[in-house]
Amino acid sequence: MTKASMGCSKVVSSLILVAFLSSSTFTLAFPVSNSGSGHGGGFGGGYPGLYPEFYEFSCPQVNDIVMSVLEKAIGREPRMAASLLRLHFHDCFVQGCDASILLDDSTTIVSEKKSGPNNNSIRGFDVIDEIKAKLEQACPQTVSCADILALSARGSTVLSGGPSWELPLGRRDSKTANLSGSNANIPPPNSTIQNLVALFNRQGLDEADLVALSGELLVNVVSFLFIIFLVSSGSHTIGVARCVTFKQRLYNQYGNNQPDETLERNYYNGLKTYCPRSGGDNNIFPLDLASPIRFDNTYFELILWGKGLLNSDEVLLTGNVGKTMELVTEYAKHEGIFFGQFAKSMIRMGNISPITGSNGEIRKNCYWINN
Ligand code: HEM
Ligand SMILES: *[C@@H]1O[C@H](CO)[C@@H](O)[C@H](O)[C@H]1NC(C)=O
Ligand SMILES: *[C@@H]1O[C@H](CO)[C@@H](O)[C@H](O)[C@H]1NC(C)=O
Ligand SMILES: *[C@@H]1O[C@H](CO)[C@@H](O)[C@H](O)[C@H]1NC(C)=O
Repeated sequence: MTKASMGCSKVVSSLILVAFLSSSTFTLAFPVSNSGSGHGGGFGGGYPGLYPEFYEFSCPQVNDIVMSVLEKAIGREPRMAASLLRLHFHDCFVQGCDASILLDDSTTIVSEKKSGPNNNSIRGFDVIDEIKAKLEQACPQTVSCADILALSARGSTVLSGGPSWELPLGRRDSKTANLSGSNANIPPPNSTIQNLVALFNRQGLDEADLVALSGELLVNVVSFLFIIFLVSSGSHTIGVARCVTFKQRLYNQYGNNQPDETLERNYYNGLKTYCPRSGGDNNIFPLDLASPIRFDNTYFELILWGKGLLNSDEVLLTGNVGKTMELVTEYAKHEGIFFGQFAKSMIRMGNISPITGSNGEIRKNCYWINN
């Protein structure tokens, strides 16, 4: 089959599927037409050295420039918002939010772009390029690539109808990348709750964070981690996933050649026609099939109906942990509560181990370290 005809049949089948699966009201459905996505999450406490007014004098128009490029790019292709949000996440989970994910292979760098979670999946580099070029014109060598990723993640959320937040800035760019770190630290889509807890823990969440951030409401670190994970997964309210990332649930969830029985029946049948037992690994499917380009809380409603796409999404409800179940229900009912929590968690994720002061550098080109 030619590339073009493959792309076309993908669009057609996803349209049919979306229609077929609509057992309830859909706010927006769009034909997805190319491949790639993936993700993860993380945090630290408030971070000294980062503050929202960082570019107030050195580049006051920074956010306007970012937003003007994003508006055009997301206008052309709504999914770009999802891709940029995910790029920030995959950056932050590997040696902190330092734009390490943007570095290409060179004599001193082994790029993270070919890691399992990233290969064939992360995208949005053209948009980052365009933002960087405009910023270098307006304020040469001032705004870091790491801050461009953070600003793009916020802008993308806002332009998709999600919440906004006061974004601490002042991250500097790394001179290193870590491919094995990317493979080890970004959670895989078939994660169990135990995996997820371990991977989030690794990002430096401890009991002090718990107390500082959550007060007396939460009884232990574990429940805090679940909340963080849950909220992170809120990012799956937009974007798409490839068949290969959820195939295990359809055909061999527990190594017994049986599907995951928590999948709602019609949803499961639809997914199967779209994602066959063999082949079709790069077919893509909306993570939130009711409103794939709108940042909203329908994702949580879908989970309640057994229509969460990734195993890591569905275990939020079925993982047999009282707190996550309650939260899914709460977020499904109250979009405002979800938005508020999402904004807070994005700030925490953006604070993971930034480079500040005179460490690192402001790259001239996001794909190469300066010489
Ligand atoms: C908690 C563990 C997480 C897991 C296991 C996970 C897994 C995945 C997978 C497998 C995909 C589809 C990738 C592909 O098909 O190529 C995906 C897509 C996506 N993820 Fe996650 N993710 C997690 C957390 C996060 C977080 C914290 C964010 C953002 C803050 C995020 C944002 C996204 C977005 C926006 C997409 C769609 C990207 C696009 O359409 O280009 N994810 N995720
Ligand atoms: C990345 O994906 C390409 C295209 O699917 C594949 O040929 C290549 O082997 C992958 N690379 C790694 C390192 O997995
Ligand atoms: C890269 O990540 C791996 C896996 O997390 C870690 O063991 C290793 O120390 C990291 N390498 C560097 C140079 O930080
Ligand atoms: C997740 O998928 C990987 C790769 O297919 C597999 O090696 C691993 O055993 C799976 N993990 C779980 C918990 O099913």
